[in-house]
Amino acid sequence: MTVWNALICVTFVMTFVVAVGRVNGALPANYMRMSANQKQDVLWKQVLRNPYPMNRLPTVGPTAANFSKLFVPAFLKTSFTWTGDEMPPGRARILHNYGVVCKVDLDVFSDSPFSGVFSTGGVGVLRLSLAQLSNDSFPVGVALKILVDGRNSQNFVLVNTVEGQGTNRNFFAKTMRNIFPPAGPYGRELNPAEKAFQQAIFENLPGGPLDHPADFNNVPLYEQAAVGSDGRNVSTVVAPYEISLRPNPALAYDENDPADFRRHLVAIPAGTLLYTVAVKRTLDEDDGTVIGQLTSRSAMVASPYGDEVLFFNHAKKAWQA
Ligand SMILES: *[C@@H]1O[C@H](CO)[C@@H](O)[C@H](O)[C@H]1NC(C)=O
Ligand SMILES: *[C@@H]1O[C@H](CO)[C@@H](O)[C@H](O)[C@H]1NC(C)=O
Ligand SMILES: *[C@@H]1O[C@H](CO)[C@@H](O)[C@H](O)[C@H]1NC(C)=O
Repeated sequence: MTVWNALICVTFVMTFVVAVGRVNGALPANYMRMSANQKQDVLWKQVLRNPYPMNRLPTVGPTAANFSKLFVPAFLKTSFTWTGDEMPPGRARILHNYGVVCKVDLDVFSDSPFSGVFSTGGVGVLRLSLAQLSNDSFPVGVALKILVDGRNSQNFVLVNTVEGQGTNRNFFAKTMRNIFPPAGPYGRELNPAEKAFQQAIFENLPGGPLDHPADFNNVPLYEQAAVGSDGRNVSTVVAPYEISLRPNPALAYDENDPADFRRHLVAIPAGTLLYTVAVKRTLDEDDGTVIGQLTSRSAMVASPYGDEVLFFNHAKKAWQA
């Protein structure tokens, strides 16, 4: 091999590593101090750096070694304690490993009686994913990150049920909530993964009873109500008990379409109303109050950055009246 050929090879390998291998964006040193809009730009540049070609969407599931971590409370605990917008170094996303992301605006109506992000709204990123790729179930999940000026982001992780929608493959068939019914018949014994989650919440998180969620199927909303997207602390926190993202019915598609869900999602243009946002103030409220809407502000993109690096903290502080 000539020197010239060797050089071409090396350059090719390096280009490949830069373009495809480097998914870990390592945010700039001053990232935390940036405005919400600047942070959104930084994250979005990372997403756009190396999107998956649509004819080569990855489908490989997590390794057994990674999967076994779902039974380790100390591993699960990090979902609550890590507050960054990127994964802790070396951490793999085990569930919801494939999805698409887009930039979003959360617009909250000016008459919202709630505080913090439930009053200011904000800009952020939305990730739409499946807990796992399967032909037998369609376990939709949505993660919303509202970026905050100079402070940690505020995050929401929402599902309808963990089991999914059976064979209904329409991503927009069901309302997404922060509180979901435990899978299976009421009163059944928790499975080992659920038990590990309970242990992570009740034994591994520091603090008192209000410093952890009330249950493993309830990702609470106190923290998001305690700070606005302008970074200001709220003096009197008024937190909803439950949030629902109700899909825009116009986005529904054939529930029997076997195509990869990501193909449907990337066809949704910027500026689309995705979800109407409704909340309940307390457990006893029967109907939710619509307080705003969530609109896409970019195309939806499938990328290794969105799948492997972007992180959505699970809020931990329990709801309070
Ligand atoms: C699983 O674990 C290996 C080794 O720790 C890691 O390299 C890989 O990226 C992980 N990811 C998934 C999704 O299994
Ligand atoms: C779903 O079914 C299709 C068509 O039979 C197959 O190609 C694909 O691998 C299946 N996917 C999974 C996750 O089992
Ligand atoms: C805002 O609240 C956070 C968290 O409770 C606290 O650490 C911080 O000191 C507060 N900042 C101001 C300016 O009060």
